[in-house]
Amino acid sequence: MIDPSSINQIVDLAHIEDVVGEYVNLKRTGGRYKGNCPFHDEKTPSFVVTPGMGIYKCFGCQKGGNVIQFVMDIENLSFTESARFLAKKYGIDIVETNSGNPDVSMELQREKESLQALNDFALTYFQDQLLNHEEGRTTALPYFKERGYTKESIDFWKVGYSPASWTAFYEYAKVKGYSEDVLLKAGLIKQREKDGSYYDLFRNRVIFPLVAVNGKVIGFAGRVMSKVDKAPKYVNSPETLLYKKSDFLYALSQSKSEIRKYDKVYLMEGYTDVMTLQQAGIGNVAASSGTALTPGQIRMVRRFTSNVTVIYDGDVAGMKASLRGIDLLLEQDLNVRVVPLPVGQDPDSYCKELGSDGFKDYLKNHEQNFIVFKAELLLKETVNDPLRKSEVISDILSSLSLISDKIKRELLLKELQTKCDIPIQTLYSEINKLDRKNRQNDSQKSISQELSLLKQVEATINEYADPNTEALSDKHQERALIRMIMLHGNKPVGTEDLKIIEFIIQELDDEENASFQLVHEPFTSILEYVREYYTQNNNAPEAVDYAKHPNTSISKFAAEIYSSDHILSKAYSDNLINIRTEDDNYPKELIDIFLNLRRTKIEEMILEEQKKLLDPEEDDSEVLQVLDYLVGLRRKIAEQIGAVTARL
Ligand code: UTP
Ligand code: MN
Repeated sequence: MIDPSSINQIVDLAHIEDVVGEYVNLKRTGGRYKGNCPFHDEKTPSFVVTPGMGIYKCFGCQKGGNVIQFVMDIENLSFTESARFLAKKYGIDIVETNSGNPDVSMELQREKESLQALNDFALTYFQDQLLNHEEGRTTALPYFKERGYTKESIDFWKVGYSPASWTAFYEYAKVKGYSEDVLLKAGLIKQREKDGSYYDLFRNRVIFPLVAVNGKVIGFAGRVMSKVDKAPKYVNSPETLLYKKSDFLYALSQSKSEIRKYDKVYLMEGYTDVMTLQQAGIGNVAASSGTALTPGQIRMVRRFTSNVTVIYDGDVAGMKASLRGIDLLLEQDLNVRVVPLPVGQDPDSYCKELGSDGFKDYLKNHEQNFIVFKAELLLKETVNDPLRKSEVISDILSSLSLISDKIKRELLLKELQTKCDIPIQTLYSEINKLDRKNRQNDSQKSISQELSLLKQVEATINEYADPNTEALSDKHQERALIRMIMLHGNKPVGTEDLKIIEFIIQELDDEENASFQLVHEPFTSILEYVREYYTQNNNAPEAVDYAKHPNTSISKFAAEIYSSDHILSKAYSDNLINIRTEDDNYPKELIDIFLNLRRTKIEEMILEEQKKLLDPEEDDSEVLQVLDYLVGLRRKIAEQIGAVTARL
């Protein structure tokens, strides 16, 4: 286990805005940063990073926490893995200790780890079958050689081979101790319905491992080697805990440094396209695995570059099908270019035909802006149809108006004029109309973005503050109590020399309140931490202590509390909203909380006792005694609270 001191060091040194900044385009506003959430689709930023506190929070999808949590969420890693990931990146030496640490998501974590171990094992197996076994060496290796792939490429992409037998992998994995359960979960074997027997998913196929951005093998694709087969050309792993198809881009892991280096990615469809280009010295490549681009894939690409060049297979139907996916890229502010290929060619075949230098030249000479390409493609069909033509033009111009760079736009307009033979006057007057609309939208946009964020923040808060639903539940009371400690723990209660934190601890420790203990997570953990901290330091932890706490349920809650508080108080001081800040109001709030907390719990107990009165087996006199005591308690508490109120 990683020593807590190392966790602290990581959280201190890995600045949240830097780490998040690698995945999200952050804009600074005041003391915080805003951006489009990387965890869900949005066009108006709901994602807030508060550097001073080391936390992030999305008010749209409610994800939040400290820097380690962020890496867990975005890289799909466990707590320990994320800590190591950051430690490596920031050159921090990790200290290990042996004491155990019970983790809430242990179960899931263990399952992921066993899937990962199995995939690693399978990768080695397939590679070994290709390189070191008779069958692979005589069928699969020649297949790769015939397609022109070198030993270096074979090693680089870690391709492999699955033998023709129905059970070779299954039996070998069994011997090595892998259970049917995990083999099925990984999708590497399947079970027959009729007799329950098992067989391999990949048989007599060359294997392309699917490697996630973090370098882990999360699945496989297997290709048949001969065309006579009726079977599908490619068989792919099913989705698992590790592999989510819509968030996966083939080759991104292997080529991300090249993509960063050239600040550009060539996006294609197939595994072999990528392999061929890489072998030809074009390493900044990725493949969508044959599907239309998904928002998840675009989010992955943007982490490395905003220049995307799509290489189209050379058939018109395919091109048109992809136009939609490309519009998505444009909407995301990416610079999109395309390189169309001759009919019947794909990047792999055409690169082989032209040779590496020839293909590089082809790319250079045929790369064109996506909008111009789209215009040419669509306008071709409108020659005798003026109505359709004007529809196409306004469609194209509205794409154009999404480009914010004026110079870029001007150049494109000129290009559209010459290439598509549209009179420039028409273009200008149309674009000016659109521009005016956009300008109006722009000035309203920043205010409306701020307001929409506020609304989301308020919604998050209101979820707890609705008096009709949640307020009467003890969970709500506990949340309010912990929030009070976190926001105001070290402030005085009224005029007395007593801090909020002391008041709360005293009240909770009062023997008469023995039944008022918190029972809900993360509140019990937070209270436990606060007590420990108070014993040592005589005051409550500071905001950053919660935010940077290694227990992720604590830091997550901190992200929620402090992010919303920060935004609301800033909006209040900016006159954007007109709701009171709680700063001057917290003593009253505190009493409300206790009043409600106690009332809720006592009411619950009174109800319990009253139910017993209906039960013939219960001793009524005993129950009545308890009820009497509880009602007395309720009165006493009311008096105590009255006394505190009077002192304030
Ligand atoms: P293609 O049919 O264009 O194959 O599918 P390819 O990439 O050119 O492969 P080779 O050159 O014939 O070996 C493009 C991509 O679509 C996915 C694969 O990711 C493939 O690389 N695909 C295709 C499947 O997943 N299943 C299939 O049956 C076919
Ligand atoms: Mn191909």
